[in-house]
Amino acid sequence: MGSKSDWPTMQNTSSTLTELGIPHECNVISAHRAPARLEDYCRTAETRGLRILICAAGGAAHLAGVAAALTHLPVLGCPMKAWSTDGLDSILSMVQMPKGIPVGTLAVGSAGATNAALLAASILALSDENIRERYLAFRAAQSEATFDLPGAPGHPEA
Ligand code: RP5
Repeated sequence: MGSKSDWPTMQNTSSTLTELGIPHECNVISAHRAPARLEDYCRTAETRGLRILICAAGGAAHLAGVAAALTHLPVLGCPMKAWSTDGLDSILSMVQMPKGIPVGTLAVGSAGATNAALLAASILALSDENIRERYLAFRAAQSEATFDLPGAPGHPEA
């Protein structure tokens, strides 16, 4: 995250990763306030065992793009709503990366934060059978829950 202020949204990412049993770490490293720290973090990411970086930032949200420039690991970008334009500034800053350095950009806000974890899970599932099983179980449970409306007329529990 670019700021502590992103954490309430990005807790959705962390809790979803935890639910799927995916070890992860959460850090605040601003691309413009702490560029040297960001460079060190990204350049050492792979050797420290990280497989995917999920970057959250708002406004001129360059964190994900800079991180992607500093590592070949997949970078997923979560645009934050921040303080203006309802996050349009943030999403354009991430999704409009010039060719050559990709950032997989999710939706603005909590939906994107949750989906970043799910997309990370689906990428990791390609090479990790345990994560694959947990991700498929999550998807199956979600499919079941979609049509469950307890209390509604006609529902078995009504
Ligand atoms: C970005 O600026 C952060 O990612 C955050 O979304 C936004 C506002 O940061 P604060 O001023 O709240 O620290 O760098």
